[in-house]
Amino acid sequence: MRLQNKIALITGGARGIGLGFAQAFVAEGARVVIADVNITRAQEAAAAIGPAARAVKLDVTNIADIEAVVSAVDADEGGIDILVNNAAIFDMAPIQAITEESYEAVFGVNFKGPIFMMKAVANVMIARGRGGKIINMASQAGRRGEALVTLYCASKAAIISATQSAALALVKYGINVNAIAPGVVDGEHWEMVDAHFAKWEGLKPGEKKAQVAKSVPIGRFATPDDIKGLAVFLASADSNYILAQTYNVDGGNWMS
Ligand SMILES: NC(=O)c1ccc[n+]([C@@H]2O[C@H](COP(=O)([O-])OP(=O)(O)OC[C@H]3O[C@@H](n4cnc5c(N)ncnc54)[C@H](O)[C@@H]3O)[C@@H](O)[C@H]2O)c1
Repeated sequence: MRLQNKIALITGGARGIGLGFAQAFVAEGARVVIADVNITRAQEAAAAIGPAARAVKLDVTNIADIEAVVSAVDADEGGIDILVNNAAIFDMAPIQAITEESYEAVFGVNFKGPIFMMKAVANVMIARGRGGKIINMASQAGRRGEALVTLYCASKAAIISATQSAALALVKYGINVNAIAPGVVDGEHWEMVDAHFAKWEGLKPGEKKAQVAKSVPIGRFATPDDIKGLAVFLASADSNYILAQTYNVDGGNWMS
């Protein structure tokens, strides 16, 4: 049990990779609070995990909402030991077709959200004086641009940079900040990505996914199970000497 008695707050944990992390953290002895804008889905997820998980409604684009949720979870649970900034949205368009609405939406969830979550959670971690772990979800999309994915790629590159700065600011409080950059992970997120590519590249549904799966050196998409081991490691004392890093979990797609 590597996370015995730890309290973890996972944004966007109602489904997909974040849900996989919630299940894995509970299996390692943690209590998990799933904070998601989709409260119905979050409650269903928490109920399926069991009494060590609960759900709270949180829109990470709303700073007042962030401060209220972080303060309530800190008070109710007796602290927050682990934050996973996992919530994100995807949109795509070439630079000549991006809209202000899409910019505000993607950067609101994918960058503003994690920044103000780190601020709020770091402050309660510092106040309790027992350190902590912050894990930001980056992406292989943050390692290089893609012609059709300007905003999402840039939001994930920004997360890699913010992880470095936050890690350097918080190391003196015993708080480790690191990031995970998955490659392609099967689930509802990629169903929607596939539909976007079908629109922009004139492909049939499922065609992009099949192409992408073949291009991964390991030969397939990941599942949330493939990503969770690194999250448990980064949340545990085993990673105490590690900070400011972004680790690829991508079947060999990116080498850095
Ligand atoms: N799936 C992939 O291929 C892949 C690859 C690389 C990185 N990632 C990253 O991993 C993380 C999880 O991806 P996923 O595939 O599980 O995504 P997903 O779309 O399946 O789940 C995202 C969750 O975030 C929640 N959410 C959306 N907006 C929110 C908001 N404003 N406030 C709070 N919650 C909100 C959604 O309700 C949902 O439960 C994301 O950061 C994503 O960018 C995913």
